[in-house]
Amino acid sequence: AKAEPLKVIISGAPASGKGTQCELITQKYGLVHIAAGDLLRAEVAAASENGKLAKEYMEKGELVPNKIVVMMVKERLLQPDSQQRGWLLDGYPRSSSQAAALEDYGIRPDVFILLDVSEDILVERVVGRRLDPLTGKIYHLKYSPPENDEIASRLTQRCGYAHIIKMWLLCSLYIKISQSRHVNGNEAKEHVFAQIDAALTHVGEQRKVNSGSV
Ligand code: AP5
Repeated sequence: AKAEPLKVIISGAPASGKGTQCELITQKYGLVHIAAGDLLRAEVAAASENGKLAKEYMEKGELVPNKIVVMMVKERLLQPDSQQRGWLLDGYPRSSSQAAALEDYGIRPDVFILLDVSEDILVERVVGRRLDPLTGKIYHLKYSPPENDEIASRLTQRCGYAHIIKMWLLCSLYIKISQSRHVNGNEAKEHVFAQIDAALTHVGEQRKVNSGSV
């Protein structure tokens, strides 16, 4: 029997490098990347009822209420592409009630990756982080500078220091109760990815053995 597609959750404080690692993971493993923040930003851009409500919370750096986030994430996870190719869920769950909601729907990841990053490094990453609004690509002025002046001139900054501290407190609340595979996220992005890659390869091999395909 063929092993089921891989299901992965990646979590960590704001600016811990989730988006950066998700780019590398999807390149290698072909999983569907589902970022709670991106889903919410799409609702805001569409000016839907949920988007208007979500915007108020996002601007204050607070968690958007579960009644919006939970259904949105669940529906995306159950889309045919996620089911066929496997998924990489980023930025969800951010509380124990969000984790419980996934359990209630019978949705469980094969592996939960937690990026551990120290507070001073988080702050440095937030301060230098830039977004290309045209391509959605994430840059860092020091660690991942833009390729040319044209890109550099259109980069925007997403959110600041106060936001990160608030979200970090919420995140650490969840981390205490979660069962997860800790990855040292303080290192250069290639080294962080090497740890994640090893963890995913290990999970993939275990699943092949369990499904009897080796
Ligand atoms: P979201 O979009 O999830 O934002 P976030 O948590 O702030 O996470 P980011 O995407 O900003 O950071 P990241 O960890 O991906 O780091 P990045 O790769 O960019 O959420 C936005 C908002 O939506 C929330 O505030 C909330 O209001 C709402 N929301 C989202 N999910 C929700 C949920 N489940 N429930 C309720 N509300 C929710 O990296 C950061 C920087 O560091 C970059 O510049 C990058 O280039 C650099 N960098 C990355 N890795 C390295 C490295 N190894 N070395 C050096 N530099 C690095």
